[in-house]
Amino acid sequence: MAIRELTLAHAGERDLSKLAEYQAIGGYKALAKARKMKPEAVVEQLLASNLRGRGGAGFPMGRKASFLAKGTGKPTYLCVNADESEPGTFKDREIMLLNPHRLIEGCLVTAHAIESQNVFIYLRGEYLDVFEVMRRALEDARKAGLMGDVTIVLHRGAGAYICGEESALLESLEGKRGQPRPRPPFPAVSGLYGSPTLINNVQTIATVPVIVEKGGEWYAKIGPEPSPGTVVFSLSGNVERPGNYELLLGSGLRELIYDLGGGIPDGRELKAIIPGGSSTTVMTPDQLDTDLDFNSVAEAGSQLGAAAVIVIDDRACMVQLALRSTQFYMHESCGKCTPCREGTRWMVQLLQKLEDGRAEQSELDLLLSVCDRVLGKCLCALGDFAAGPVVEYVRNFRDEFQRHIDEGGCPFGGESSLEGTFAPVDQHTHAPVAEVPA
Ligand SMILES: Cc1cc2nc3c(=O)[nH]c(=O)nc-3n(C[C@H](O)[C@H](O)[C@H](O)COP(=O)(O)O)c2cc1C
Ligand code: SF4
Repeated sequence: MAIRELTLAHAGERDLSKLAEYQAIGGYKALAKARKMKPEAVVEQLLASNLRGRGGAGFPMGRKASFLAKGTGKPTYLCVNADESEPGTFKDREIMLLNPHRLIEGCLVTAHAIESQNVFIYLRGEYLDVFEVMRRALEDARKAGLMGDVTIVLHRGAGAYICGEESALLESLEGKRGQPRPRPPFPAVSGLYGSPTLINNVQTIATVPVIVEKGGEWYAKIGPEPSPGTVVFSLSGNVERPGNYELLLGSGLRELIYDLGGGIPDGRELKAIIPGGSSTTVMTPDQLDTDLDFNSVAEAGSQLGAAAVIVIDDRACMVQLALRSTQFYMHESCGKCTPCREGTRWMVQLLQKLEDGRAEQSELDLLLSVCDRVLGKCLCALGDFAAGPVVEYVRNFRDEFQRHIDEGGCPFGGESSLEGTFAPVDQHTHAPVAEVPA
C-alpha cells in the first residue's frame, strides 16, 4: 500500500511551519494562481475535483461553496472547523502542527473563491501547541503580505465536543452558548451573524491549494472515482504502530492495520474495528477487506466519518467499550433536546448495570429500546453518534452482553485492554467519571 501525501507532503523532511521552507516546496503558488482567476473559476475547479469534506459527513466541498447566497449585501464568511474532539481523531492536529501554511493558503484560496474577507479558524481549546504554531505562521504570512484584504481570526474553543457541530460552532463564535441551531436556514444562506457562511474541516481546506495548483480534473482522478484524493487516517488502539497515515481513499483496511500499523501487539487476535471515530459503528474482522472510502465503508454498514481507525483486540470488553463511548456522549450532550439529554443518561445507567453484572435480562432489550427513541429524533447528529454505535455493539457482540447477565459480572474482570482509557475524566480531579448522577 502506498503512502500518498498531499496535505502532509514534505512534512517529514522539512520544518514546514517556517514560511521560507513552505515556499521552497512551492507553497503559496496556488494562492497567486487563484488570485489571477475569477472566483467562480476557482469554484469550478473545486466542483470538478469532487472533493468530499473530511470532517465526517463527506459532503462535496465545491457544491457547498457554490450554494452560498449571492447578492445579499451582507459579508460572506469562511469558518474552518478545527475543533477535532471525537475520541480517536487526531489528523487535523497533525496537519496544523506540521503544515500550518497549507491550511492558511487553503483559507486564502477559498476566501477568494467565495469572495470573503473574513475567515475564522475555530480551534479546539486544548490544542495549545497547535495554537502557538498557527499563531506564528499567521503572523509570518501577514508580515510577508500574503493576506491581501483577508483577515484570518484564530479562535480558541473552550473544550466542548458539540462546538464541532457546525451550527453550534457558529453560536459559540458569536459568543453564545455552543448549542446547535435548527435548520433550515442552512449556513450557506444564514450562518455566522446571519450571513452566508461556508464551514469546512481543516483537511478539506488544506486540500484546496493542490486542487487549484494541479486542477480539479487531475484531483478527481486520484483514487476510486466517487471519492478521489487522500485522507489522513488516524490509527489508534491495539496496534503496534499507531499514528497518522495519509493514504489514497480506497486503500485497504487490512493493509492499514497490518502493513503500516504493524498488526496487533503481543500476538493477540483482532476483535473489532471502529473505522471513523467513536461515533461510527463497529466492524468485525470478517470485514477486513473493506476499502477505506466513503461508499465502501457505507456498503459494509458503517461510516468513514473522520477516518479515525480504532483497532480493538480480543482482550477488550465490548460492554465496557459501549459504556465508555456513551459516557463521552452523555458528558458532551448540550442538553438542548430531550431524547439526547435523557437518552444518553439512561443508556449509561443501563450499560453500567450490564458491565457490573447487575442487569436483568429485560434491561438489554430496554437498552435497545432507549437507543431506538434517540436515533433520528434529535436536533443534531450527536444523539445518533451515541445510540447508533451501541445498537451495533449489541448486534455484533450480543453473546458478550449476555455473558455479563448470565455470569453476574464482566467476564474480563479488570483485565480488559480498555481499562482506564477512552473515558471522560472529572474536570477537577482528572479521575475517570465512574458514577452517573441519579
Ligand atoms: C457532534 C458533532 C461534532 C462534530 N465535530 C466536528 C469536528 O470536530 N470537526 C469537523 O470538521 N467536523 C465536525 N462535525 C461535522 C460538522 O458539523 C460539519 O459537517 C463539518 O465541519 C463540515 O466540514 P466538511 O464538509 O469539510 O467535512 C461534527 C458534527 C457533529 C454532529
Ligand atoms: S442531539 Fe444532543 S447535542 Fe445535539 S442538540 Fe440535541 S441535546 Fe444537543
